[in-house]
Amino acid sequence: MRRLVSVVSFGCALTLMVVRPSAAAGPVPTYTKDVAPIMFAKCVMCHRPGEVAPMSLLTYGEVRPWTKAIAGKVSTREMPPWGADPRYGTFTNDRSLTASEIDTIVAWATGGAPKGSDADLPPAPSFASGWEHGEPDAVIEMLAPFHVPAEGELDNLSFYAPVPFKEDRFGRLVEFRPGNRSVVHHCNASVGDLPEGSTLNASGELILADGTRENGRPDQARQASAERAKFANLLDCVPGRSAFPVPSPEVGFRIPAGKYIRFGLHYQASGKPDTDRSKIGLWFTDRTAVQELHRLGIGQALKQAADQIGYFRVEGVSEIYDPASGRRWEAGWPPLPPFSENYTVLGVTPIVEPITLYGFTPHMHLRGKDMNWILTLPDGRTEMLMNVPKYDFSWQIYYELAQPRKIPAGSTIASVAHYNNTAKNKFNPAPDQPVQWSEQSWDEMYLPFILYTADSEALPTSPTSVTTRQKSKSIQR
Ligand code: HEC
Repeated sequence: MRRLVSVVSFGCALTLMVVRPSAAAGPVPTYTKDVAPIMFAKCVMCHRPGEVAPMSLLTYGEVRPWTKAIAGKVSTREMPPWGADPRYGTFTNDRSLTASEIDTIVAWATGGAPKGSDADLPPAPSFASGWEHGEPDAVIEMLAPFHVPAEGELDNLSFYAPVPFKEDRFGRLVEFRPGNRSVVHHCNASVGDLPEGSTLNASGELILADGTRENGRPDQARQASAERAKFANLLDCVPGRSAFPVPSPEVGFRIPAGKYIRFGLHYQASGKPDTDRSKIGLWFTDRTAVQELHRLGIGQALKQAADQIGYFRVEGVSEIYDPASGRRWEAGWPPLPPFSENYTVLGVTPIVEPITLYGFTPHMHLRGKDMNWILTLPDGRTEMLMNVPKYDFSWQIYYELAQPRKIPAGSTIASVAHYNNTAKNKFNPAPDQPVQWSEQSWDEMYLPFILYTADSEALPTSPTSVTTRQKSKSIQR
């Protein structure tokens, strides 16, 4: 019964609060014994000094004034942020609360929020002040500090630094370390080639072939997103998670020699002039052969089948991807019409050879409503792999499968997403405008990412990546 209630009322707070019967039954839970362990495990990675959340929840004194807000936010499942429909898939990084954890917090809050005995308090978790995972094997830093003005909105900016290796390397962990956490709002690292004819200035900004600077171009976003499609993502740092370990020791992500790291930075003014010089740390794999971890937006062809096409269908029309003319999918995005409430996009990727699937990241912007991933096996059976019924742009979450999933050749993976461009969508900045494809949050994207390896692939890593390896610490997720 409990199970049914929590499933049916996912995203429907009132039902949840009304039907849950047990809260008042037993003795009132205490902070030290019952609530602190939940906060330590599922809240304080974000709710601590210097992190993204507005207040720290590390001690009873800090938690006490927020009692009512906490009970409210956990009952509605707004906190902790987690978008996966609990009916599909099991994820190692699932930080959502169980129904009984919610009961405990609500019973504690409504029972007067007692502190309890100090002896019951478990030790608070400790957090690294430097690199989360110890010293990296290699560090790549922005070429120069960036000066963040005291006030005003800044576009998403890009800075580039050359990859300092002579041969391709394979990484098992990458961590993004903002130089100044108080101004870095979102960050991302990717690797790829500079556009034809372009150069870098001393600050690591791109000077395009026509002499203009990429940062600050009026059409920067659209221009850059076409070029940037050639950049392979290494990680998106999201609140509470700025490191990305590979899902298995057999797997590595490629850092190609002769390319460039792109630091994608969204700065937020802090009220005083500030500087930031961010860096990434890399830890190399110690295997002599690895499978390369690939990231792909559903709808595009598997990287192993570049001659094949993926498939897109927008509002029932399937003319988006035209391999004959080489027309790109981004370029083909028909503007999302003003006031459209349920704009539907479908992408399909044929699985032309056996792959292993590790996880999902939904990526849309402010009009994104929902996104799912559906597997169709060669015999026609279908299965929902993953569903995000209420997408929230604030949380770019990677959902990591607890069990990597083998997918046989001859299957397809499809993804359906819906967009709401009306005023009913409270995040919508302009419901009366058509919305085009770009990286800016007021424009839109459709990227149902998967992470996978191709089962037939086994790549020799560079011998130097073994000799330069300094650490073999186990990696905490
Ligand atoms: C991934 C990071 C993250 C995690 C994990 C997280 N929070 Fe939050 N929390 C935030 C951020 C950021 C905000 C402010 C923005 C917002 O409200 O969405 C917030 C807001 C809140 C608020 C509202 C504060 C206000 O000003 O009204 C409460 C209450 C809260 N969190 C409680 C919790 C509790 C309790 C947990 C654990 C059960 C938790 N959060 C887990 C990031 C997080």
